[in-house]
Amino acid sequence: MIHFGIIARNFSSTAAVQSAIKNVTVIGGGLMGSGIAQVAAQAGQNVTLVDVNNDVLTKAQKSITNNLGRVAKKIYKDNPQEGEKFVAGALSKIKTNTDPVAAVKETDLVVEAIVENMKVKHDLFKKLDEAAPSHTIFASNTSSLSINEIGSVVKRKDKFGGLHFFNPVPVMRLLEVIRGADTSEETYSAMMQWGKSVGKTCVTCKDTPGFVVNRLLVPYIAEAIRLYERGDASARDIDIAMKLGAGYPMGPLELADYVGLDTNKFILDGWHAKYPNEPLFNPIPVLNKLVAEGKLGVKTGEGFYKYDKK
Ligand code: 3HC
Repeated sequence: MIHFGIIARNFSSTAAVQSAIKNVTVIGGGLMGSGIAQVAAQAGQNVTLVDVNNDVLTKAQKSITNNLGRVAKKIYKDNPQEGEKFVAGALSKIKTNTDPVAAVKETDLVVEAIVENMKVKHDLFKKLDEAAPSHTIFASNTSSLSINEIGSVVKRKDKFGGLHFFNPVPVMRLLEVIRGADTSEETYSAMMQWGKSVGKTCVTCKDTPGFVVNRLLVPYIAEAIRLYERGDASARDIDIAMKLGAGYPMGPLELADYVGLDTNKFILDGWHAKYPNEPLFNPIPVLNKLVAEGKLGVKTGEGFYKYDKK
């Protein structure tokens, strides 16, 4: 019997938690969407991963297969056959679709992980609201936009909330569960229960900019970039300092490259526009320059550091 419960290095001791949510639709086949699809499939749920671009879906399937392999190697290190079964079992739980409307017809939960653009999110959720069954919960994985604003276009406001995952999703143990102004108690409880069922420790936050983690992490990364920009310390020394002096697994500039410099800039710019008097959110010339040059971090092969292109 394949165990689809709570797995991987950080989740090993928790018992499997059941959720009433059995059918999940993840919209957006990027890094976050594919990670979310993976953890739901590992938990034995039926997953439909949606992206309008077929190439993105093909890439997502490859990365999920690789990452399931990493998980299997760890939990079935002495039993590669069981490991293979585990990978095949989880993969068999994931279907793909290029049509979001068709993909939500029988789903219990939609997790949206598409581009951070309010209009695009509104267009999507308006369509999904018409197509999904009335019991379906809608959630956004947005990292910096307002849940209330994203959910303002749907009629089912009581069934709308935030489920914010962290990269790499299969490894990071946290899920932020965001209650919007109109999220019902029932929806909130279902989201918490679902988060536990996919192996995450859930924390709750109101609909505030960046919730808990990004509200702390983004200014921290920004301050590290400013330190580097002023020439106070080298990138390497800033990162070593925070790894060895504060016990962080990655230094702030490594992390900025890992998250994507475009993402860091997008979040800062959005908050700066909304809160112009908050100096922590001020634009950073060196970050803007790197992004303008297409140096977005790990994914483009260069950011604060150089990487082998994957
Ligand atoms: N899927 C499955 N397993 C994975 C994985 C993935 N995508 N990525 C890494 N792993 C596993 C590896 O197989 C490895 O397993 P092992 O311990 O059995 O060998 C283990 O995780 C560690 O990986 P590595 O050996 O490759 O590398 P590290 O030990 O350096 O760990 C890391 C990598 C887990 C990314 C660690 O450096 C880390 O925790 N970094 C901080 C990440 C972080 O802060 N993320 C949050 C970003 S903010 C965010 O996402 C919010 C958004 O809104 C912007």
